[in-house]
Amino acid sequence: MSIIYQESTKTFYLDGKNVTYAFFINYAGYAEHLYFGKKIPHDDLLYTRMRGPDSCIATAPGRDDQFIEPIFSYIDFPPEVSFFGTGDYREPTILAQMEDGSRLSDLLYDGYSILSTKPKIEGMPSLSGGETLIVHLVDSINSLKADLYYTVYDDCDIVTRRIVYINDSDKIINLKRAYSFAIGLPGHNYEALSLYGSWGHERMIDRTPLHHGVFSIDSKRATSSAVLNPFLGILEKGADEDKGEVYGFNLVYSSSWILKAQVTLDGQTIICGGINDFDFSWKLDPKEEFSTPEIVISYSNEGLGGMSRAFHDAYREHLIPEKHVKSPRPLLINNWEATYFDFNNEKLMSFVDAIENTGIDTLVLDDGWFGARRDDTAGLGDWIVSEDVLEGGLSTIINYANSKGIKFGLWFEPEMVNEDSNLFREHPDYAIGVPGHGRCYSRHQFVLDLTRSDVRDYIVNSVNNILHNNNIQYVKWDFNRNVTEFFSAELPAERQSEFAHRYALGLYDLCDRIIGGNPNVFFEGCAGGGARFDPAILSYFPQIWTSDNTDANERATIQYGTSLVYPLSAMSCHVSVCPNHQTFRVASMETRSNIAHLGATGYELDPTQFSNEDKEEIKNHIDVYHKMRKLIFEGDLYRLNTPNDNEFSFLVVAKDKSHAELLCYRRHCGPGKEVYRVRVKGLSENKNYYIPELNATISGKTLSCVGIPVAFPYGDYMTAKYHFVEK
Ligand code: GLA
Repeated sequence: MSIIYQESTKTFYLDGKNVTYAFFINYAGYAEHLYFGKKIPHDDLLYTRMRGPDSCIATAPGRDDQFIEPIFSYIDFPPEVSFFGTGDYREPTILAQMEDGSRLSDLLYDGYSILSTKPKIEGMPSLSGGETLIVHLVDSINSLKADLYYTVYDDCDIVTRRIVYINDSDKIINLKRAYSFAIGLPGHNYEALSLYGSWGHERMIDRTPLHHGVFSIDSKRATSSAVLNPFLGILEKGADEDKGEVYGFNLVYSSSWILKAQVTLDGQTIICGGINDFDFSWKLDPKEEFSTPEIVISYSNEGLGGMSRAFHDAYREHLIPEKHVKSPRPLLINNWEATYFDFNNEKLMSFVDAIENTGIDTLVLDDGWFGARRDDTAGLGDWIVSEDVLEGGLSTIINYANSKGIKFGLWFEPEMVNEDSNLFREHPDYAIGVPGHGRCYSRHQFVLDLTRSDVRDYIVNSVNNILHNNNIQYVKWDFNRNVTEFFSAELPAERQSEFAHRYALGLYDLCDRIIGGNPNVFFEGCAGGGARFDPAILSYFPQIWTSDNTDANERATIQYGTSLVYPLSAMSCHVSVCPNHQTFRVASMETRSNIAHLGATGYELDPTQFSNEDKEEIKNHIDVYHKMRKLIFEGDLYRLNTPNDNEFSFLVVAKDKSHAELLCYRRHCGPGKEVYRVRVKGLSENKNYYIPELNATISGKTLSCVGIPVAFPYGDYMTAKYHFVEK
């Protein structure tokens, strides 16, 4: 049993692999947070409750009990959930408006249930497995209920949470804020870490101390976005890659979201968030319920490295589709950077000839194969093969590829439509827009209204028509612009602020039907590069295109930031042409291959231009990749130094510590530079390891204390690799 309720203290203890989460039901009937951290025995934790400065705060509504339990006051207790209108002026988790216009909800404890199997969220992805606690809260005046869901796992250091709001009354309740969780952490000696970015610069790292007041990050774009990832790290001051306490919060959600950290008057820190309540409301009809997306909360006392390993384990074991998480992926070549829109059967067939016997096993045809899509101004939405480009349809190239043992993959952007398309001409209302207003253009395209079932049916049928009639084994699902007008012609006025969340539900329905309905096709996620890199997308797409920026030097930084939360196996990484198309930087094939090797590797360049030397190098790289893939996909990641340093490294250690691979990267070479010495962490101190590159056998203990000096080849943007094999 991982979840225990102790009646004498009304305390719930939830034990994960190395963590304990504890809260109790206080005198007034509120769920009060006690502890989340390293695993502890089930001691009575009520001694930790301290009264803060008295500020004549309100008591529980209708109960003048402030003096009955003197240590209880609203601003003192660390909440599991908090509400507006009850004297608690901290960030509310919920703001519900009743039919009479009142906004007070007083949700009190009303029992609990423990489930050995975690229930799925209807219509939304979530982590699977784990023992689940449901704490039932009720506001009996308004007949509003809230079920707090908690799940713990015996194989990883996370807790997941969400809330189901239930209207048990016969009146309408309007949810104006419906966050997924709140948690009160002790003290305020923390820094916030977030992953910001843009196109070509996804998941850069920002770190800032928390101050009194609210630190908030969000998306208002109906997508999880490259601008800010739905992740917040809360770090004990001074925590670094290896040491210090770190809490991670990651939403399993792909639409507009928010995460906040509030330092309160009495010096505690409350983290909360979920669906962004900006431009949000949800009309809860009598007897209806509403589930929030799930939040994954990790704890590490081994700094950021420990946090990353906790998320990686959780996502590999409980989120990424099981059949793909550990199995080999398609080793593909994508034609985008090689041809852009300029291709035909002959050119693609020459690609097939050029990749024969290299180890590349899949040819992926990117944008431009359908409708009038000769450039990015037309054709999106018309998922019909363009015979102008591919004479005889897709079968010519697919048959040719298959005859040479090469599989075939195809690009779609199912959620989009160009103004210049048959779909838009026939159904202009399928595109999101506000009547009477023009639509915002972005890459000449509009977003389809996924809140509508007829639009979703059109997409499912037209994509399936291609997939069912051709031998396609891989799909790249792209999403190249943000939503702007936030309006659906089909929704009544009072439900228009449900739009962003309904977009996500529509997207998940599409994924369930298209991905679920084509179990033999491998689906990769993409969004104008890596702009929708979130756990919900990962639950459908085992790998996601990390960035359109394929420059190895920049990719090393992007992949470093992404790895803070997401496992290497989730990152799609291609070796692209040199000089690079985004930066015109020159980097060797070895460097480009080694950086792409830190994920689900692939190629994106013209293979007919391969020299014999390139071919040999690619063959070797693929050979090494196949040998190391299991380690890269399943091992524990340790990062050494940071992208702010001239040299930094990624070390992946097998779970059983029998072997490891270290990839070091140096940006700039220069005379007189210090030797870069790396302490090799994560190995077993009691084992000896043979290092072929040094032809030496050294103990894990020595490697972790003394390290190894890294010998980079001369030149800028160089890599060096070392292997460690138990002797
Ligand atoms: C996006 C993707 C690219 C490519 C183009 C095609 O930008 O990120 O990889 O597929 O669309 O238009």
